[in-house]
Amino acid sequence: MALDIETERLTLRLRDERDGEWYRELVGERGEDLPTLEESRARLARFRDLTLETGIGALAICRRAESDVIGYCALIVGRCSLDEPEIAYELLRRFHGRGYATEAAQALVAAAAATGRHRLWSTVGAWNAPSLRVLEKIGFRRDHTITDDRGEIVYLVRDL
Ligand SMILES: CC(C)(COP(=O)(O)OP(=O)(O)OC[C@H]1O[C@@H](n2cnc3c(N)ncnc32)[C@H](O)[C@@H]1OP(=O)(O)O)[C@@H](O)C(=O)NCCC(=O)NCCS
Repeated sequence: MALDIETERLTLRLRDERDGEWYRELVGERGEDLPTLEESRARLARFRDLTLETGIGALAICRRAESDVIGYCALIVGRCSLDEPEIAYELLRRFHGRGYATEAAQALVAAAAATGRHRLWSTVGAWNAPSLRVLEKIGFRRDHTITDDRGEIVYLVRDL
């Protein structure tokens, strides 16, 4: 997939060690154990290598006007496959509610289509109304649900 994408307000670029600080903050906002800056950078370097190896992975979402980074969006194998990957996104809380996830995800859908893939998935907790709404806005439809140890998970699909 393309590793450099421009939208009206955003630049998406490969996520790597540069992103250690905000990524650490994001992990903290999830309520997970906070990695040190060094651990955070090492984790991002591993993810970056995997992206270069498989051709899909996470892009940092940068605001063009403000020159800051607000989160990431990604194509991942997740519960699906390399041919039909999942789309995922996560933004720092202070940037929620301004249409950024929708704008980034829309661009990533186009990037996925440009690789020749025919279908994308997303798996989302049934409780996650903002994420379900983003997917609805970018043309995903509900396919089925499962229940696992994290509760009800909705599988959504989008033909490209
Ligand atoms: C999901 C997430 C990325 C959305 O980011 P965002 O930039 O705020 O999304 P957008 O502003 O593009 O769109 C959010 C939409 O959800 C709506 N929304 C927000 N809270 C809502 C709620 N409680 N119930 C219903 N809709 C809600 C917004 O109104 C907006 O829809 P609209 O444009 O029709 O008004 C962000 O909430 C996030 O990072 N969450 C934590 C990580 C996460 O859950 N990632 C997804 C895992 S699958």
